[in-house]
Amino acid sequence: MNGLREIADLPGPRPLPVVGNLFQIRRKHLHQSVEAWGREYGPIFRFRLGARTLLAVTDFEALTTALRDRPDGFRRTKLMETIGLEMGLTPGVFAANGEAWKLQRRMVMAGFDPTHVKAYFPSLLKVTQRLHGRWLKAANAGSAIELQPELMRYTVDAISGLAFGADINTLESDDEVIQQHLDKIFPAIYRRLFSFIPWWRIVRMPSDRQLERSMLEVNRAIAGFIAQARARLEAEPARRAQPPNLLEAMIVAADEGDSGVGDREVTGNVLTMLLAGEDTTANTLAWMIHLLHRNPVALRRAQQEVRERAPDAAAFTPEMMASLDYVEACAHETMRLKPVAPFQVIEALRDTEIKGIRVPKGMGVWCVMRSDSVSDKHFTDAQAFEPERWLNQPGVASSAKRVSMPFGAGPRICPGRYLALLEIAMAMAMLLAHFDIVDVSTPDGADPAEQMAFTMMPVGLRMRLRLRT
Ligand code: HEM
Repeated sequence: MNGLREIADLPGPRPLPVVGNLFQIRRKHLHQSVEAWGREYGPIFRFRLGARTLLAVTDFEALTTALRDRPDGFRRTKLMETIGLEMGLTPGVFAANGEAWKLQRRMVMAGFDPTHVKAYFPSLLKVTQRLHGRWLKAANAGSAIELQPELMRYTVDAISGLAFGADINTLESDDEVIQQHLDKIFPAIYRRLFSFIPWWRIVRMPSDRQLERSMLEVNRAIAGFIAQARARLEAEPARRAQPPNLLEAMIVAADEGDSGVGDREVTGNVLTMLLAGEDTTANTLAWMIHLLHRNPVALRRAQQEVRERAPDAAAFTPEMMASLDYVEACAHETMRLKPVAPFQVIEALRDTEIKGIRVPKGMGVWCVMRSDSVSDKHFTDAQAFEPERWLNQPGVASSAKRVSMPFGAGPRICPGRYLALLEIAMAMAMLLAHFDIVDVSTPDGADPAEQMAFTMMPVGLRMRLRLRT
């Protein structure tokens, strides 16, 4: 690979000895620091976290090429795999690489094709109707709804219903045991991923012991869910043809003769689904409600569509949800401006190049996913919330889809994207059909901060609803 430039020649923020650029970023807002460097240093630059140099890329074409070059050219980071194993997590498709990833991806994908997702509709409808019940109470009492935690209950119930094959009713109860354990695991992964010193390898704090207990409880519960699902499949073999939840779909796929996977991989992927499917969808919904409230013309159009095509949450059908084109455009526009995964980190598996820069094997590449997608070079009036850009203009919409990649790209693109869009459509349709939004705001009236905690969430949003007039 002659004629290539070296990473050391690239611009980037000046590192301090030992810590590099660590003190120039705040863990909860690190995506914004790296995005700001991108505006200063251009589409490819370098920075250092401790001893580790990272190559940051903002150019969407270069990002797409690298993300497509998986699993052979790039992998998810070794650190993610190590931290998961140290915590006692059984590896699932998100953290897996190479051959193990290929086998798990095939098993997981079997549960996400459109026919399967359609079979999950009754389970999602039940959860949507529960959320309706909660919001009715809040509207009648005139009380404010803490938007992000509230939507987390919705997605936790929706995904755990599918991933456990059992009803975890956090919307109607406050003492859901397994959820309390899960709540400890996910933040711990994020904290450890971005810790300068791996303190947990040196000293075990009470919180580490608590984490171990939570891991044990969760793994025990999952083993129970798998045993129950297997018993159901045994008792009713017809379920194998159209599994009503993800867990059963994964078991059926694992049981195929040449699958190369078994209950261990199913266990790992039950947790993976929860991890990948809860915060992402809840935070996207919270951003969407915030943006719609701020854009009354778009809100009215979305309301009108829902009230014409899906006016009653008690009678929602998959076909009605599929007809909500404008609501879907609002989701795409929300994810362009507020992608809940605003960056990804991948690692080169062999010597390669990106934009004329030599990238040695093992190099970490920080993919800045929100840069071109919010640039006037690629979108007219790029900072504005304009769902119309996703509609009725085939050329424009398809080029928008190439630049804005909220679900990632290439062979590891999010397998849950259609399920997520369905959950979003159901919650939004229920909201817009039955309520008027009185207010969505933070306590001080400022824009909600973007906080990274595994995914990017809005801080402090409260919503007030009134029964539809
Ligand atoms: C709005 C909601 C969601 C967003 C924005 C989102 C975003 C993402 C992104 C950016 C990736 C990385 C893709 C890549 O490496 O190129 C990913 C991977 C993944 N997502 Fe999602 N996701 C969402 C919902 C879900 C749901 C509901 C599920 C499952 C129930 C899910 C399951 C997964 C899994 C299993 C992976 C790993 C795929 C692999 O490595 O092969 N996601 N998602």
